[in-house]
Amino acid sequence: MDQESPPRQTRISIFRNWICLCGLIVAGGSMFAFLLLFILDALAPVSNPYVGILAYLIAPGFFVTGFLMVAVGLLIERRQLKKQGPGSTIPVLIVDLSRSRDRKNLILLSSAALVFMVITAVGSYRSYHFTESVEFCGQACHTVMQPEFTTYMHSPHARVACSQCHIGPGAEWYVKAKISGLHQVYAVMRSSYEKPISTPIKNLRPAQETCEQCHWPNKFVGNIDRTYRHYLSDTNNTPFAVRLLLKVGGSDPNHGPVGGIHWHMNVGNKVEYIASDEQRQVIPWVRVTDAQGVVTEYKTSKFKPDSKQVIRKMDCMDCHNRPAHNYQVPDDAVDLAMSLSRIDPGIPSIKKEAVKVLTRQYANETEALQKIATELAEKYPDDPRIRPAIEAVQQIYRDNFFPEMKANWKVYPSNIGHKNWSGCFRCHDGEHLASDGKRTIKANDCNACHIILAQGAGAELEQLNSKGQEFKHPGGDYGEMKCSDCHTGGD
Ligand code: HEC
Ligand code: HEC
Ligand code: HEC
Ligand code: HEC
Ligand code: HEC
Ligand code: HEC
Repeated sequence: MDQESPPRQTRISIFRNWICLCGLIVAGGSMFAFLLLFILDALAPVSNPYVGILAYLIAPGFFVTGFLMVAVGLLIERRQLKKQGPGSTIPVLIVDLSRSRDRKNLILLSSAALVFMVITAVGSYRSYHFTESVEFCGQACHTVMQPEFTTYMHSPHARVACSQCHIGPGAEWYVKAKISGLHQVYAVMRSSYEKPISTPIKNLRPAQETCEQCHWPNKFVGNIDRTYRHYLSDTNNTPFAVRLLLKVGGSDPNHGPVGGIHWHMNVGNKVEYIASDEQRQVIPWVRVTDAQGVVTEYKTSKFKPDSKQVIRKMDCMDCHNRPAHNYQVPDDAVDLAMSLSRIDPGIPSIKKEAVKVLTRQYANETEALQKIATELAEKYPDDPRIRPAIEAVQQIYRDNFFPEMKANWKVYPSNIGHKNWSGCFRCHDGEHLASDGKRTIKANDCNACHIILAQGAGAELEQLNSKGQEFKHPGGDYGEMKCSDCHTGGD
């Protein structure tokens, strides 16, 4: 009896069918978002991990959920119909347009659906952009990432997103990054993160999948002409510059002769090594497999075989390990500021004094900036040139020293070159003997990797020699020692 009263039937029927309708909206919205993301992904020059995840995992997830809702709605509907038996007169239509109440509801629902679709689309787009953004990676946890973010902003990669080197394309690494990201958020909340963050990063994605998206080993670089300007730590801040022709060369015979520094990346060769310390600064074992499959092993006398040793294949990051986060050594940073006249080279002993205040220990940045200012101002009380110099030294501090994270040049060695760290001389030190016992990895030959075109100061720098000059070390010969035994960047 009760069942046959029409208003109640309608209410129940509409309620049941709203499940279907909601499902349809969810499905429609995600469909729309998917289409948008799909177009975005298709048009982007480099495929992006985040668009991939959103477009191919999350949007379809919502799509399926929407359809499941529709199915559940229909199932409930059918059940109810069956219960009411064959004689029931419930309208089969999901929405009966002849009823004004249903019409109103439909209009309301359609508007809601439209708004929802727009929100989903914009939302997906925005959230993709946000999780990928440099702001999110570099500034969300301000103190923790400040050293990396600051150095990155001063690097040649300041316009390459963090995710392009640290995650790269593809869903697999995105998921890995998000899992390790959760772990990091937890560490930040508990303040249990490392200070400084230790390197090398254990699971850094191989260069082939990140750097080589933009630079590839097949490119022939040729020679690079660079001038390294320095000032000695004497009263006159005597200038001393070296002009080098770096033989970077190339590694693909289709584009130029294979050789020079990028020989290591020879597309046919494989260079592998074992490091005996965490930071990969000591390399007692190297193995080269050439294009013909000939294997040469090089060892130092300190090498002891051990089953736990990890053999690493050399890639770009074994030399270019600071492409985005170079913590300048105080020596070089002051030299640069002086050569640009930000610090006046006419101020007596300023090189020495500037490096001295930079290499002190300070509790935090505020203290450092204050003490740098007072100390230099006291040293040069009557020199008007000291004000801009103080500002320049403070800027060097802000850009390269991060006492809160204990991050500075000392804890992050740079492997390019050989002056302040072993760098190339980790292998090219004349101590790596081939298994035949006759050869070592090329070393001591100062013209193997570069030639010195000119050196000294003033007119001396004009005297170019295309065959290369012998290095005239300031202050005389340095003997048999490695450059980095004496040069530590300051302190
Ligand atoms: C050009 C590629 C590149 C870009 C862009 C880049 N990084 Fe790095 N990053 C590296 C390399 C290479 C290392 C050093 C890895 C090693 O030594 O194992 C590194 C190291 C790090 C480290 C470890 C600590 C340190 O200082 O070495 C952190 C943290 C980090 N990057 C965060 C970021 C953040 C945040 C951004 C964006 C603001 C970013 N990176 C952008 C390539 C990049
Ligand atoms: C998204 C593209 C992109 C990726 C990924 C990338 N780079 Fe670069 N890289 C650039 C651009 C752009 C420049 C600047 C070129 C220029 O203007 O000279 C550059 C410059 C460089 C330079 C020359 C620096 C200088 O002092 O002039 C080196 C070396 C380099 N990149 C190495 C790397 C390494 C190593 C990686 C991987 C960790 C990497 N790049 C990843 C785009 C990229
Ligand atoms: C054996 C060490 C070593 C390896 C391995 C290496 N490079 Fe280099 N690369 C150098 C040196 C040294 C220079 C000279 C410039 C310098 O000192 O910064 C250089 C220069 C460059 C430049 C700058 C060219 C320019 O025009 O300014 C780029 C870009 C570059 N390398 C990319 C790469 C990439 C990508 C890889 C990996 C495929 C790689 N390098 C592997 C040592 C290396
Ligand atoms: C992991 C060890 C290792 C490191 C680090 C390394 N090299 Fe090498 N390098 C080798 C080996 C092995 C050879 C091949 C043996 C030889 O020719 O003596 C080689 C060969 C070379 C050659 C000769 C290539 C040719 O034309 O035959 C140059 C130039 C060179 N390296 C430059 C550099 C520079 C510059 C750096 C630092 C930025 C560097 N290497 C770092 C292992 C290394
Ligand atoms: C295995 C390759 C290699 C060998 C061998 C080598 N160098 Fe270098 N050297 C480099 C590279 C690469 C750089 C550039 C570093 C950079 O870009 O920061 C460099 C830089 C330099 C500089 C400039 C450093 C600065 O900051 O002013 C001097 C000076 C120098 N080398 C002298 C020598 C002398 C002297 C020898 C012989 C004992 C020698 N090199 C052997 C690879 C080599
Ligand atoms: C026995 C210690 C010692 C060794 C080894 C040594 N140097 Fe030096 N070097 C010095 C001293 C001391 C000065 C003078 C520093 C000053 O006045 O600031 C100097 C100055 C320099 C300068 C100019 C000023 C500066 O600080 O940049 C350069 C460039 C340089 N050395 C490069 C090298 C290179 C490259 C090697 C390895 C091939 C090397 N040195 C090996 C002790 C050494």
